[in-house]
Order: sequence, then C-alpha cells, then structure tokens
Amino acid sequence: MHEKITSPSLNIKGGQPLYGEVCVSGAKNSVLPLLFSTLLAEGEHEFHNVPCLTDVTMAGDILTSLGLFTKQEGPRLRVITPPELGKCPDPSAVKKMRAGILCLGPLLARGNEVQLPLPGGCVIGKRPVDLHLEGLRKLGASLEIKDNLIYAKTEKGLKGSEITLKLPSVGGTENLLMAAVLAEGKTRLQNIALEPEIFDLISYLKKMSALIKQTAPRELLIEGVEKLTPPPSHSVIPDRIEAGTLLMAGAITKGEVTVKNCEPKHLTVLLNKLKECGFIIETGETHIALKKSSVRKSVHIKTHYYPGFPTDLQAQFMALMTQLEGLSSVEETVFENRFRHISELKRLKADIEVTNQTAHIKGPTLLKGANVEATDLRAGAGLVLAGLAAEGETSVFGTHHLIRGYDNLHGKLQTLGASIDLSDSPKKPVNIEISPENAV
Ligand code: UD1
Repeated sequence: MHEKITSPSLNIKGGQPLYGEVCVSGAKNSVLPLLFSTLLAEGEHEFHNVPCLTDVTMAGDILTSLGLFTKQEGPRLRVITPPELGKCPDPSAVKKMRAGILCLGPLLARGNEVQLPLPGGCVIGKRPVDLHLEGLRKLGASLEIKDNLIYAKTEKGLKGSEITLKLPSVGGTENLLMAAVLAEGKTRLQNIALEPEIFDLISYLKKMSALIKQTAPRELLIEGVEKLTPPPSHSVIPDRIEAGTLLMAGAITKGEVTVKNCEPKHLTVLLNKLKECGFIIETGETHIALKKSSVRKSVHIKTHYYPGFPTDLQAQFMALMTQLEGLSSVEETVFENRFRHISELKRLKADIEVTNQTAHIKGPTLLKGANVEATDLRAGAGLVLAGLAAEGETSVFGTHHLIRGYDNLHGKLQTLGASIDLSDSPKKPVNIEISPENAV
C-alpha cells in the first residue's frame, strides 16, 4: 500500500568544514524496546535522555492503543501501565513501525491474547520475524498467521525453555528476553545479539527485579518471576549511531568535531577504522574528538553484528569513502539490500561500482550538489554527509525517514557551522510505503 505524502527537504550548501562540540541524544534503538518493556509492569515508568523522534511518538501510539498513558516532555518520558492491557495494538500504528513486533513478547508474558500485523520486508531487505515467532513458540505460545495477521495466545502462560537463535537478531533477542522474564521457570537464550542496546534493556529489566544472568558471551539465563515493578527512573544510553554520524560529518568536511555525552567504547570499531584512514581520534570518558589530518587513506569495511562494524553506519562511511585517497570497499553482510544510497551518491558524482554485496568506492571525488532522495533513515544520513562535502547545493528529500531516527540532526549540524536548513519548499511528492516501515 502506498501513500503520497509531501516531505520537507533538507537543503545544504556544502564545502564548509565543520568545527565545534555537539551533544548526542539518547539511543533510538534503546528507547524503543525500553518503551515496549513497560507493558511488563503495572505502574509508573520514567525515562530520561529520551530522544525526540517520530519513532518514539509512534511507539507511544502503540502503547496508548493498549491502554497505557504516555507523555514526553523534552528528554523525559513517563509511561503509566494499567493493571489490564488491551489485546490489539492499533494495527495502523504497528504497520508503520517494524519495532512494533516488540510488543508481542511482553503481551504474551502478561498472559494476553494478541492480534498484530505481521511486519513485511522493507527497502533494505526481507526482514522476517521467524526467530521471534519460533522462540515464542518454544516458550509455549500458540501462534497462527492468517491474512498477514499474527494471532497469538498461551493456554496456561509462558514456560521457560532452551532457545538458540539461528542468528543473533537484535529484535529477536529483545522480544524473547521480555517474554522470558515473566515465564514460569528458567530460560536459556543462546546466540543472543550483543548490541549495547540489548544491555540497556537488560539493565532496565533488572531494575524492575527481573532475574537475568549472562552465563556465556552470547548466552543468557533468565529465571522467570511472577511480577515486575517499575524502578524510580532510567536514563537511556547515548545513541552510538548518531555519535558516529556526527563524527563523520567532521571527517568528511575536513573539520574537527567533538561529540559529547557519548560512550566511546560502543564505537571502538568505527574509531579504529577512522584511525586507519589517518584521522586523529581522542577519547575521554564521555566524549570523542576527531582531529584534522592530512592523511586520508582508503579502507575496507565489512558490516557485522556487534561488536563488528554497524550496518547502521555503513551508508555514512560510504559517503566518507568518496573523499578518501584510493579504492575503498564496503561489504554489507547484515541486510541483503542496503545499498540504495549508492544511486543517490552517484547523482552527486560519486564513483562507485557494486559487485554482489560489495561496493567499490574510488576517491577522492569532487562531489557536486544535486537533488537526492533518502530511501531509509541511514541512507538519508549518508546523503546529508555527502551533501556537506559537495560543492554547491544539495537537497535531500524523504526527510520523514531522518526525523524518525535522528533528534534534530540539522540543528546539531548547524551548531557545528553547517549551512543546512529544513524547508517546506520546494516540496516534492514522494512515495512511501506505509506498510512496512523503512526506517531502521
Ligand atoms: C535492529 C535495529 C536496526 C539495525 C539492526 C541490525 C532496532 C529498532 N533496529 O533491527 O537499526 O540495523 O538491528 O543491527 O533496534 N532476521 C531474520 N529473522 C528474524 C529476525 C532477523 O532472518 O526473525 C535477519 C534480518 O532479516 C537481518 C538480520 O537478521 O538480515 C539482522 O536483523 P535484526 O538484528 O533482527 O535487526 P532488527 O532488530 O530488525
């Protein structure tokens, strides 16, 4: 199903080096599972360092449709969970957001019968949820899929089990973890994802009195409890993808940028790659500084599950590669179709060729401003970075993707001296798929 919408464009006058300091917001990929975890415990939940994103508003809409109250005031967000939950999250809200599948585990854990739309594939790949469903079946849920709807229930509540994920899915780990904390008995969850956002969720679940132990590097032992209780508050971890994007904005424009309020150890692989290119990186406890360097060597990156190179920084790094000396390459191994930004980078005169899942980028190229379209959130971020380096004006369309996952990106770039404006004109109609969403 398609809907024609108009989306404001981001208009960039490129070629200016960015300088200065900028603060990172809370992590989108943390706050979404945290919000769905509020379904597990009746009472008042309070989160700090919450980014202002349309994805957060949409997650709030899903919770509201299940009878919860949510209110965000700046970086503080309150959720009140009633004793009884609704069983049908608003299908239109769930369809707009793939992370909506994360309400399935918690709702089943609370003994609810659930009906929710099956998320489909999206622009970056098929993105099935088979691991979520297989795991929930192992925990005793009965699941049926009819007309793209998941009908889920449990006869006598969830029961602990042994589950091995066939690949370390982030969402799969989160959904099963949230289901297992209230299941009867012990669950061993193996081959889990290790993204920092998983550990933020574990930290919140533990604050609610969940019993979770990491028994091996990729293994959790969860002992189900009868009831969870919200803690006084929780602060969302910093967004490592936003931090990386802002650092690369400094790198691509030959500037010097310091990102503050971040967690440098969550970005080790990116920082090592930037050092390999020749950039000088200094880190403190909660900041990272990227210093100018005359050396800008080509590199190879291969995306992988954490602690590998994050797929969510691939498009931004590819934009940077257009400015490195020599032939760089990017191999995408997490999603099968995550190169949609390449055709748009080529509009800016980037020299890129693709063979199978590897892109070869020749640099340095003098990029030239043009109109480009963000096909998903991180592709959009890559195009913004390329626009900052390009000569002349670049308009990035499809900015509804960017505001789903970046809190005031253009404002933060302005702070660093970028000439970038979000404007309603010129407006250009774009097609977006309402179901499923293409922000990741
Ligand atoms: C999360 C992040 C997203 C990031 C991705 C990979 C959120 C809200 N989104 O997405 O930004 O790009 O991790 O780091 O946290 N897969 C299956 N079966 C499943 C589940 C996944 O085959 O049941 C496959 C997917 O198609 C994909 C790979 O596993 O190829 C990784 O997906 P997954 O880790 O589940 O990503 P998400 O949780 O959707």
